[in-house]
Amino acid sequence: MYWTRVAAVLVAQLLIIVTGQRFPTISYISQEKVIDIGGSIELECSVQYVRDFPVLWIKMDSVDPSRTIPLSTGSNLIVKDSRFSLRYDQASSTYTLQIKDIQENDAGKYQCQVLLTVTEKISADVAVSVRIPPIIFDNSTRSVVVSEGEGVKLECYAGGYPAPTVSWRRENYAVLPTGGSQYRGNILTIPSVNKNDRGTYYCVAENGVGKGKRRNIAVEVEFSPVITVPRPRLGQALQYDMDLECHVIAYPPPAITWWKDDVQLSNNQHYSISHFATADEFTDTTLRILTAEKRQYGQYYCKAANKLGTDQASVELFETVIPICPPACGQNLFSVSVAASLGGADIILPVLLLACMFRRIYY
Ligand SMILES: *[C@@H]1O[C@H](CO)[C@@H](O)[C@H](O)[C@H]1NC(C)=O
Repeated sequence: MYWTRVAAVLVAQLLIIVTGQRFPTISYISQEKVIDIGGSIELECSVQYVRDFPVLWIKMDSVDPSRTIPLSTGSNLIVKDSRFSLRYDQASSTYTLQIKDIQENDAGKYQCQVLLTVTEKISADVAVSVRIPPIIFDNSTRSVVVSEGEGVKLECYAGGYPAPTVSWRRENYAVLPTGGSQYRGNILTIPSVNKNDRGTYYCVAENGVGKGKRRNIAVEVEFSPVITVPRPRLGQALQYDMDLECHVIAYPPPAITWWKDDVQLSNNQHYSISHFATADEFTDTTLRILTAEKRQYGQYYCKAANKLGTDQASVELFETVIPICPPACGQNLFSVSVAASLGGADIILPVLLLACMFRRIYY
């Protein structure tokens, strides 16, 4: 087989020599092309001394290079795709393959061939790369829920041409657990997660083609409740209302209860309980003591529990002679300070009472 090929070439060359003609050559082939989707390219192939030998443009199959797709032969187009056209310039013996409206799958190796015999050819290649905006692959992290103290890996993989760079940011340019406001790489590792690490993370893929792509990754950090009490001791006069408050931070959102003397309190004519969630993990809880009676003075407890643990804190209510504002008299303390500046402790009480009554009527 090999020897017959060699013989064929020798015969071909001998013919050339005998007939005084030169051996066919490809004298020019276009340089590598890099093109945007939708763009146009021209691939040129100039040949010399080819006489009647066929000149072909071929597309090599990117998956199986042994498979080829003939696009043109001589000055005739073979491929049935209106985006392709062929121009033959006789003077320079140049075959120019034109492709309009370039698509992703037009990328690959194009070959100009001169067929000498059934088995012998000379050829030259030109590579065509298509610029593709980044895409973020589905095997990237979408969201994670992690307990405080645990480690977590956020992964982000992207494709496109040229290969995109992948970097990480946080919402509002918050500092990353790795330090700094940006981290480059496919994997962002947080060895030991804490509460402050919760929030939205951005994976950004960029390659200079188009605007780049971003994926938002929610990181939920689960932690056991922590309670703080803004005012641990509160006074109020008999027959007046008073609000006891606890601030709870926890995730997932906790069950919150109020207790006095080991009895869980509920909404009734003596108590009113309300919770106000300011965010997923922040809850303000208020126990309103309605028209305080003697037995309602003492220690109260707020308790918060989620699957990771519980916390509790105490708030004490003690009896005063003077009603305390707020909530007894609304928010306006102006009358109190006026009374105080008028001097004499004996005038404060009547003025306060008056202020309280006035507020009540007013409301
Ligand atoms: C993610 O998916 C892309 C495309 O499907 C693949 O090329 C890449 O190897 C995958 N990476 C990992 C780490 O699984």
